[in-house]
Amino acid sequence: MKIGRRAFAGSICAAAAGALSNALPGDVRALAQSVALKEIVPAGWLIGAAINQNQSDGRDTAAVELVTRQFNTISPENLLKFQSLHPEPDRFTFDAADRYVAFGAERGMAVIGHNLVWHSQTPRWVWDAPDGALADRDTMLARMRTHISTVVGRYKGRIHGWDVVNEALNEDGTLRDSPWRKGIGDDYIAQAFSFAHDADPNAELYYNDYNLATRPAKRAGAIRIVNDLRQRGIRIDAVGEQGHWRLDSPSPAELDQAIAGLRATGVKVMITELDVNLLPTAAPARGQPPSPESNPYANGLPDDVQQALARYYGAVFAVLLTHRDDITRVTFWGVSDGDSWLNRGRVNHPLLWDRQRRPKPAFEEVVKVLMRRP
Ligand code: XIL
Repeated sequence: MKIGRRAFAGSICAAAAGALSNALPGDVRALAQSVALKEIVPAGWLIGAAINQNQSDGRDTAAVELVTRQFNTISPENLLKFQSLHPEPDRFTFDAADRYVAFGAERGMAVIGHNLVWHSQTPRWVWDAPDGALADRDTMLARMRTHISTVVGRYKGRIHGWDVVNEALNEDGTLRDSPWRKGIGDDYIAQAFSFAHDADPNAELYYNDYNLATRPAKRAGAIRIVNDLRQRGIRIDAVGEQGHWRLDSPSPAELDQAIAGLRATGVKVMITELDVNLLPTAAPARGQPPSPESNPYANGLPDDVQQALARYYGAVFAVLLTHRDDITRVTFWGVSDGDSWLNRGRVNHPLLWDRQRRPKPAFEEVVKVLMRRP
């Protein structure tokens, strides 16, 4: 008998839900692997996760299995950032990055590069003059070109697409006064994209930022960046909305509008760093243990919040599906809750797999939504 996709999804989810309560962790992990996101996303979509060095080096075997089974693209959580690759002017450190690229290549995945030009996780020498003042335009441009041509050139033909410029915008849509902009001027963005294109003409090139779905003014800034690049005749393939979201934000309607607005520029849209922060915004003071109020889910996620997270992820994917032809990639920022950067001394639960690498109700909901599509 041929089992329809929908019936299949229903049975997997029901079985998963039942099994979660009494199966051994190993069994539950096996069950989670019986359906793979990469097999049920719309044709042409990439779906992936950011991986850390324990994962790209193969030490975290449970995560490696999960990533291999579930995803067809990976992003480097930290390994390809400026400070990881180029700590001193004449010293590049490629070993761990090479292993990350090999990890993806061995599995036939689209390997993403993140990122080339950013105000954060970049060593001071990049922007400094010998006297400690800001380097002049020509010096900074030369450093940018050397970095981009060396890094993009090394992985030419092996990295599918690059976040060329990350987080260049203020919340009001004006250009952030990053050291790159101060030293080079507003055209630092265009320069970075041209250097990247020169180094690998076949690589996709992206602009990546956060809060583009929740802040229309910031989104307008991203649209200006895209239009400026296109007017100059410089390649840009997609805009990445990072997707560091909360249970109530963006709303499905906001997300829908944001995708439509970005897509209207002509480039594709990607969700590049998806996670859903469940903790109160007020973080504990540095070095202090978190108060119980700031860390409410330290002993686990109550069922109502677990279900709310599942509903939110389901609603998000339902909107993404209505834009299936506008979207090229959805990447989670981390594999399982324990890996997430959103923990930071507290206990967060932002992803589809829990700390034991068991699929959460949010995973089941995403599977259901993806399989229900016509
Ligand atoms: C984060 C990593 O997840 C952390 O491990 C690191 O300490 C800081 O950077 N936007 C980005 C990502 O573009 O590079 C950031 O990654 C998260 C926010």
